[in-house]
Amino acid sequence: MKDRIHIRNNAKGNILVRYSLLIAAAVAVTTIVTGVILVSVLENHYIRLHASLYAELSSTVRGEKNSSEAFIAILSRFPHVRSTAIWTASGASVMAPETGPLSGVGPLSRTAGKNAMNGALKGKLEIVPAPNEGLIILIPILTHEGAVEGIVGLLEDDTELRKDIQFVQLTVAATVMSVGVLLYALLFGIFLKAYQEQKKAADRLRKTFDVIVFAMSSLSGLRDQETGGHLERTQAYTEALLNGLRRSAKFRKTLDKDYIKDIITSAPLHDIGKVGIADSILLKKGKLEPGELESMRQHTVLGGDLLAKAANKLPFPSSLTVAESIARHHHERWDGSGYPDGLAGESIPLAARVVSLADVYDALRSTRPYKKAYSHEDAVRIIREGRGTQFDPDLVDVFANVESRFAEIFDTLKFD
Ligand SMILES: [Fe+2]
Ligand SMILES: [Fe+2]
Repeated sequence: MKDRIHIRNNAKGNILVRYSLLIAAAVAVTTIVTGVILVSVLENHYIRLHASLYAELSSTVRGEKNSSEAFIAILSRFPHVRSTAIWTASGASVMAPETGPLSGVGPLSRTAGKNAMNGALKGKLEIVPAPNEGLIILIPILTHEGAVEGIVGLLEDDTELRKDIQFVQLTVAATVMSVGVLLYALLFGIFLKAYQEQKKAADRLRKTFDVIVFAMSSLSGLRDQETGGHLERTQAYTEALLNGLRRSAKFRKTLDKDYIKDIITSAPLHDIGKVGIADSILLKKGKLEPGELESMRQHTVLGGDLLAKAANKLPFPSSLTVAESIARHHHERWDGSGYPDGLAGESIPLAARVVSLADVYDALRSTRPYKKAYSHEDAVRIIREGRGTQFDPDLVDVFANVESRFAEIFDTLKFD
């Protein structure tokens, strides 16, 4: 059986960072698209509004004799009108500058210009941008009856107009951006609140699970003749050993946060199978006969099966899978001579290898009906002697770095 990296939550990295970036990206895209559309619509609207003032002005000469010329006389007072032209109602040029866009050779000779001229002849106000020159505006001069009498064209210096438009565009862009920032803050706030509530619920669930595990492990403790506090101490040694392993390059990758948490939580369940062992064997004072020993060893299978059944009821990988591997394999030995499956080396799940060392240390330090309690130094020596035979050699090396913590734990959590 290979060790597996126990990942309950497949999401890598901080979920808060990932989703806030996602919200930021969505808001940024929406803001930019809205901004670009608004700015473009605004520019067209502003230019059309500006040009429509000329159309309004042209109505003052409606019906006058030589109305087009009269209108041009009015336009001549406008400093930004650079040049003017007049066409008849049939589109023939009456008056135009010799050079420039209005000469009839410039933009008005191109497709856009031709279309604009056709539109103006139908009575529509037309605007044609003349790159680097300004704006050409074609204003139909109408009779009282509304027929087109002529077309007045003007080339306007649009520098000031563009400046005005730019200012309005910047104001709109800044407003849209501010709305975007506010929207982001609002969405992030909503997400943060939901995330915190969900985290609180998940924490409660986890704590409930931990308590249930504790209650279950106490069952085996109730019936076992092991010394008081064995389960708590085994859990604490497991944590100390895992803290050491986490710093070693070999185990750092396998031991993710969830896997470590699951091993620590599940450690007290290692002997849960003992609830199924007959009292005559479990509570026997003195050495067990070979047959009794065989039955006693069945606690690993009983515990493993019990937890496997529970784990299989869940449609997702849970901490129970780790608990199962610990219960089933905490008596395996590195050299393959352990039980129940005779697994060897790294075939023994890492969780079981860790708990096995913790369990043995505590058993060595404790008095049992058939043995005396060893000192810390003796327990450390015996574990070292088991390097590569009973225990994972790498684990024993890490144990050598944290063994003083084991002694502390034994002294602190010694209940008898
Ligand atoms: Fe056991
Ligand atoms: Fe134990």
